[in-house]
Amino acid sequence: MVNYSDHRIHILVLPYPSQGHINPLFQFAKVLAGHSSVRCTLAVTRFVASSARPAATGSVHIAVFSDGCDDVGPDGVGGHRGPYFERLNAAGPGSVDQLLRSESELGRPVHGVVYDAFLPWAQGVARRHGAACAAFLTQTCAVDVLYTHLRAGRIPPPPVREELPPELDGLPSQLELTDLPTFMVDKNLPPGLLELLMNQFVGLDTVDHVLVNSFYDLEPQEADYLTSAWGAKTVGPTMPSVYLDNRLPNDASCGIHLHTPKTFETKAWLDAHPSLSVVYVSFGSIASLSSKQMTEVAEGLYNIDKPFLWVVRAKETSKLPATFADKAKGRGLIVPWCSQLEVLAHPSIGCFVTHCGWNSTLEAISSGVPIVAMPHWSDQPTNAKYVQDVWRVGVRVPPDSQGVMRREEIEVCVRQVMEGELREEFKIRALEWSKKAKKAMSKGGSSDINISDFLSKFGHHK
Ligand code: UDX
Repeated sequence: MVNYSDHRIHILVLPYPSQGHINPLFQFAKVLAGHSSVRCTLAVTRFVASSARPAATGSVHIAVFSDGCDDVGPDGVGGHRGPYFERLNAAGPGSVDQLLRSESELGRPVHGVVYDAFLPWAQGVARRHGAACAAFLTQTCAVDVLYTHLRAGRIPPPPVREELPPELDGLPSQLELTDLPTFMVDKNLPPGLLELLMNQFVGLDTVDHVLVNSFYDLEPQEADYLTSAWGAKTVGPTMPSVYLDNRLPNDASCGIHLHTPKTFETKAWLDAHPSLSVVYVSFGSIASLSSKQMTEVAEGLYNIDKPFLWVVRAKETSKLPATFADKAKGRGLIVPWCSQLEVLAHPSIGCFVTHCGWNSTLEAISSGVPIVAMPHWSDQPTNAKYVQDVWRVGVRVPPDSQGVMRREEIEVCVRQVMEGELREEFKIRALEWSKKAKKAMSKGGSSDINISDFLSKFGHHK
């Protein structure tokens, strides 16, 4: 046994192993580790550890556990769906149990486990070691409220076909079927996904804390409802303070990237463009667009005739129109991955064309960047609805009857946000939200108070 005399609270943070979940939990781990009373360990799967090599993580320690797919990761067994969850749920609990045991043996027992709500089994494992448990919800309060109503039968079971009840506690009255998470309305769902989403709520009634990556001012009635239903507290946006201060960091290691970011190339290209001139386009880490949709985005961007930075992941490249890369030279930069927080903080960015994954949406709001919403699936339509009609920081591209968002519509929406009459309003509102986001995480802000309150429950461990 090592001679270990750390009297801090030891918290283990356990994300579900996808980019959209690792990011907010890793950032939250950094926030916790920023408290002098806390030692924080982030547990990632062996596959994430070997492919992303999270080395320079500052004050956060890294530990590994097995999801039963150590060499191949989720993609090796068909992606984030049924067969992967079976392996994860079979191998994960024993492996995290072993991890907690070895931390104890090393003289640094874990006092609290913050687990991604996608991994509800973590609660039982933590309890066996006498650790307090917090479930961390990575989606908006609004989406969590919708699923809570679905679970309680106040919304009919999927596929929901009728209009929603006119009054649903904790939600605005104007929600329509097209605003619901796709898992509530789509009858052709990949197996297991709705169960995974609904599993997030298993054990929330017995867990010690429920934390949400949002901030109170952004969703006050939704947050209040979640507090009454689950005792949930908002603790976001879990972005590094350096971005919340709008200072560009010189720190490419701010994230754990499952793809390699083209940081220097991207920054040099952005530096060469004037303020608010660039259209930034990214559809996150999972969305797989149809070739038709990719063509519409490509031609729409070309026709807009503004500089654009487009993240096209390696797997998606073959869907670009054959001659597009040549045609777009001089006008756009296409990269397989970037350091998105750095891009959004760059003064040249004029708007963000996004699939409205919750991290991307919250990052844009917190960086004061207006949004053109092109939701793909899952919680994204709900986020897009709020972007357009509740937070009013952008517009949603309307789909045609086949669900494709056409080039003309993309062009109209980007122009509306970047040069139309409403341009100033979108920008001013986005900046106001970013100020509120920063305030929430600053000393005495709503999220800061909730985080301090969470930590105060641990007392002192000597
Ligand atoms: C998924 C879901 O789709 C999303 O709706 C849910 O809310 C969280 O999990 P994903 O589709 O990957 O995530 O989108 P998003 O939530 O936006 O997360 C993507 C993350 O990758 C963001 O934190 C973003 O900053 C980062 N990113 C993306 C990069 O760092 N570089 C890139 O080039 C693209």
